[in-house]
Amino acid sequence: MTVTIVGSQLGDEGKGGIVDLWGDAADVVARYQGGDNAGHTVVEDGTEYKLSLVPSGAVRGKIGVLGNGCVVNPETLFGEIDALRERGLDPDVRVAERAHVILPYHRVLDGIEEKAKSESDSEIGTTGRGIGPTYEDKAGRRGVRVGDLFNPDVLRERLEYVVAQKRALVEEVYELDVSDLEDPDALDVDALYEKAREYGRRLQEDDMTVNSGEFLADALDEGRDVMFEGAQGTIIDIDHGNYPYVTSSNPTAGGAAVGTGISPGVVGGGEVVGIVKGYLTRVGSGPLPTELGGVVGDTPGYDEQGGGDNEDLATYIREEGGEYGTVTGRPRRVGWLDIPMLRHSARANGFTGLAINHIDVLAGLDEVKVGHSYDLDGEEIFTMPATTERWADCEPNLRSFDGWEDVNWAEVAEEGYEAIPENARTYLEYVSDELDADIYAIGVGPGREESVVLEDPFE
Ligand code: GDP
Ligand code: IMO
Ligand code: MG
Repeated sequence: MTVTIVGSQLGDEGKGGIVDLWGDAADVVARYQGGDNAGHTVVEDGTEYKLSLVPSGAVRGKIGVLGNGCVVNPETLFGEIDALRERGLDPDVRVAERAHVILPYHRVLDGIEEKAKSESDSEIGTTGRGIGPTYEDKAGRRGVRVGDLFNPDVLRERLEYVVAQKRALVEEVYELDVSDLEDPDALDVDALYEKAREYGRRLQEDDMTVNSGEFLADALDEGRDVMFEGAQGTIIDIDHGNYPYVTSSNPTAGGAAVGTGISPGVVGGGEVVGIVKGYLTRVGSGPLPTELGGVVGDTPGYDEQGGGDNEDLATYIREEGGEYGTVTGRPRRVGWLDIPMLRHSARANGFTGLAINHIDVLAGLDEVKVGHSYDLDGEEIFTMPATTERWADCEPNLRSFDGWEDVNWAEVAEEGYEAIPENARTYLEYVSDELDADIYAIGVGPGREESVVLEDPFE
């Protein structure tokens, strides 16, 4: 069977930790979209692993697959595998031949476009990993796929076509001099070709490539269990998120089928678990109706003065939760849980269960609020409008819950659900009722043991 782990909000909900929590039962853990923009944390016995491309199952020694829907920067992949080996793990990663390759010019263009947009304050705040430009090339049918790295003629032909275009874009549209770029080789066909061939050789020597659909279908046919590890989150999904402040792939559950080559029936016939952070965080720009305080440069309209009403509260939650980007180290924007957002997410993904994390971070507050619905033009609405501009106009109707005390969360995790402070249980049950999905696990700390498990989706 399959278990699909999906971010229900804006990324960083604690997906890596949940993949690790249930990953022991899985034989294979597959990523289906995104690339090294992801930063997934696993904490095993106090040792922290931050993974951006290697699927989180590596910590438990599971086979990892990067599905065809992923964009793969081989440089990052090899660097991460080598670093994990030095730490005593032995990652077994298979890369889909159909996955697209992030090449140096994609990162360069990500940076150039963000800079150009910043002149009109319209940058997305990307991770700078070249994700958008690589998916653009995929959709534009001018991308380089992992399988192309083994075919010298095809590779050269592809690079010659695409690099000429990128050069023209840099020089004629952005009016920049290629020789002034930090990495001028990023637009040099010969240099790129040599680099790409080297990537291909290592992938081949280490026997790392697969036809992901076939590989996973064979595993399932043999009765093995597969976990799909979503990256990012529903509200930064290119279709279901707040476009254009999104990533360029489909983190939603449908992406697990398209991005691996396993049928939607199989994915939908398994479990789809929505990972919910008990409050909200966001890295980058775009609206956030329940935001507390703000982050200069990311929160629209927020300037150096700061001083929003709930600045102290935002700072408190940011510090308690260690809310700084895993990939970029940027402070994350913080807000109350947004229930209309989660209703949208539950519908788009069809959650069969929920994992609600970071309940410990909220402990000690007098009250905990949620945006229960929005006011939009004098009308109460219960889900997100489809356009981002309308979403920005939404005023949340806040509902207040009594806070809960800080307790010994490790003990709570050992004792189980009833040991969770009553007010926290009231909060959790409200979320479960609103989303019409059972709670499978509750995160009360970053470690593998710091979870209250109510249900194991593989059982
Ligand atoms: P991901 O991208 O969804 O995998 O999440 P990240 O790893 O980017 O961010 C989640 C952060 O919160 C990591 O530092 C986790 O170790 C940590 N974390 C996960 N679950 C919990 C939890 O229940 N409580 C606390 N305090 N931290 C958690
Ligand atoms: P995980 O898997 C949080 C955000 C970026 C930016 C937007 C587009 O760790 O949850 P991109 O580089 O993808 O083109 O950036 O998406 N973003 C994430 N935010 N968690 C992530 O991944 C993210 N991956 C991308 O901050 O706003
Ligand atoms: Mg993350």
